[in-house]
Amino acid sequence: MTLDDDVVTGTVEPRADVAVRQADPPLLEVAGLRVQFRTARGPVTVLDGVDYQVHRGRTLAVVGESGSGKSVTARAIMGILPRTASIVGGSIRLAGVDLVRARESVRRAARGARVAMVFQDALSALNPVLPVGYQIVEGCRRKGGMSRAEGRRRAVELMDQVGIPAARARVGAFPHEFSGGMRQRVMIAMALARDPEVLIADEPTTALDVTIQAQILRLLADLQTQRNMGLVMITHDMGVVANTADEIAVMYAGRIVEQGSASEVFGTPAHPYTRALLGSIPRPELRGQRLPAIAGSPPDPSATPSGCPFRSRCPQAMPVCGTRPPVVRWRGPLPGSIGDEAGGLDARIGDETSSPRAEIGDEAGGLASDAGGAPGSGERMAACHLLTPGAQS
Ligand SMILES: Nc1ncnc2c1ncn2[C@@H]1O[C@H](COP(=O)(O)OP(=O)(O)OP(=O)(O)O)[C@@H](O)[C@H]1O
Ligand code: SF4
Ligand SMILES: [Mg+2]
Repeated sequence: MTLDDDVVTGTVEPRADVAVRQADPPLLEVAGLRVQFRTARGPVTVLDGVDYQVHRGRTLAVVGESGSGKSVTARAIMGILPRTASIVGGSIRLAGVDLVRARESVRRAARGARVAMVFQDALSALNPVLPVGYQIVEGCRRKGGMSRAEGRRRAVELMDQVGIPAARARVGAFPHEFSGGMRQRVMIAMALARDPEVLIADEPTTALDVTIQAQILRLLADLQTQRNMGLVMITHDMGVVANTADEIAVMYAGRIVEQGSASEVFGTPAHPYTRALLGSIPRPELRGQRLPAIAGSPPDPSATPSGCPFRSRCPQAMPVCGTRPPVVRWRGPLPGSIGDEAGGLDARIGDETSSPRAEIGDEAGGLASDAGGAPGSGERMAACHLLTPGAQS
């Protein structure tokens, strides 16, 4: 199943209403991204029109059940998809370069200069037979053409920056000589060696115990502030989302089903999937809560049904949900019936993050069905027929 072509593959132009919400152009803009895997049963579409944007100095949390496509999206951005995968639609723009269409040398230069990734499992991401300093130095030297001695100095400096004690003495140690938390710091140092503008952290703390998790998250937040980076935080932990995100993108079955500022998504979740995720989390104990299980399972990507992929699990499914894929965004307040039920979390983040919905509402007013193209910067979006005017009649 595919979304409407104009929505899935359109090139995104800045829109006037978007400028109200976010003045800076995004550092990274994924629009209508489609990825297929070649399998024995034929091509399988695992990303079916993913849109998100990352801004300087902001954190975008990407959440969703296992298999929803969070890591495949990150790998597509990094250019490290498996050989069996192909990008078959959409664009990935990094500071103006379309990483899908540009020449390989241009892509490599753009990625090398601007984006880096921290993986979940540092032990398997690090080479066990090379000293950690060397692995950090390798990144430095490739980027800057440094001498060995300069590279070593830089590696020690980076290890210091990420809080590895006795960095000078440990620059020659091997990955297995570090604890899990320290290995994750090594991974972060490797990523920083590229001096990235955008850092993608794919479940960076799930393999760690709670205290170390908090330290690593604090480190990422501090580094983001110091370096004014855009951060993509892929996580299952709603506490991490509540404490770190400026924007949230909720993924389901290879697409973003809801997007908005953290205060909006926590405060007035619009998509039934988001509401199911948030509704079953005990509110006062938000910290440390992982995404809850929701009855049923996501569709098999090799046999995605027509219409809305969430419909077999959705308590509010309507006939139209079986026939038309929903693609909706809106400005202004939620329609009454949804707003009443939304039952969002009275997130403390709501106090810290101003909700821009009112500004947009003042300008555009009310509900608007999709106008084509990918959502703009910080635009409130949910792909659900409940938000389409007249769909319930
Ligand atoms: N090498 C592969 N071959 C075929 N399908 C794959 C391959 N790698 C991933 N997929 C499929 O792509 C989809 C998205 O996977 P992805 O790893 O992005 O999920 P995820 O959201 O990161 O999940 P998790 O939270 O478990 O990490 C899944 O359906 C998965 O089965
Ligand atoms: S489009 Fe229909 S089935 Fe899908 S989430 Fe909305 S109400 Fe539920
Ligand atoms: Mg993953």
